[in-house]
Amino acid sequence: MRSNKIACNVYGKDDRISTSIDEPMNVMNTDVYFSAQAFSEDMARSKVAVIIDVLRATSTMVTALANGAKGIIPVRSMGDASQIVAKINSDNFLLCGEKDGVKIENFDLGNSPFEYNKETVDNKTIVLTTTNGTNAIAQASLAQELYLASFLNISSVINQLKTKHQDDQIVLICSGWKGRISIEDTLCAGYIVDALLAGKDDSGMPDGAKVARSLFTQYKDDLAATIKHSNHAKRLEHLLVNDDLGYCSQIDIFDILPTLKDGIIVDGKA
Ligand code: MLT
Repeated sequence: MRSNKIACNVYGKDDRISTSIDEPMNVMNTDVYFSAQAFSEDMARSKVAVIIDVLRATSTMVTALANGAKGIIPVRSMGDASQIVAKINSDNFLLCGEKDGVKIENFDLGNSPFEYNKETVDNKTIVLTTTNGTNAIAQASLAQELYLASFLNISSVINQLKTKHQDDQIVLICSGWKGRISIEDTLCAGYIVDALLAGKDDSGMPDGAKVARSLFTQYKDDLAATIKHSNHAKRLEHLLVNDDLGYCSQIDIFDILPTLKDGIIVDGKA
């Protein structure tokens, strides 16, 4: 039996997340979709879905959970988000979201991970709508299991797939931008594929997985710079007040496994 061992640096922490996994993984069952629109609701049935939106929805949700948010209710539209919060009418809920990168007027928070600090989100439930990320979650909500990945928590997701889903069909769904590919999401998917393969040959894998992995192999030594020059970085250029791009490029700063349970994203490790 092959032994897959991965040890990952945890930036900003002295300790390391390390795992030793001895189960073989049927990684040939893993595929990658390059936008939310490339994936339809029915395709998610009986699959394990991993939603990726590096800039910035999944990075923001991971950060919110790491800073004590109780859960995140992802919704497709501003109207749905406003209705939920109006119905609940409680200080324990925050109405959050962006449209085309810009914070929605009268909402409590936008979609920058820096807004989701401990003082603001601790013990709160967040109702969130974003241009692509929450749409991708909705598209895959019929999945057998649904997780969120970003670079910030990538090893937690990889470990979960390796230990709990060896024989399952895994779909890595990049949120992309309005139906188009985003390099940062594809690199994150490629990182996961590469880790699952653990040195094995990818020739039996679907084309999407091979493409994502080969992009990752090309840019893996320069992830932060590649993200900085992405199309979405350019869209956000004049909107950002903090270094969201540098922040979202960090690897493994959180050991968090955002998991969809009854319509709410919670930390599956808590
Ligand atoms: C999205 O869902 O499209 C993004 O997270 C947009 C953003 O950067 O706010």
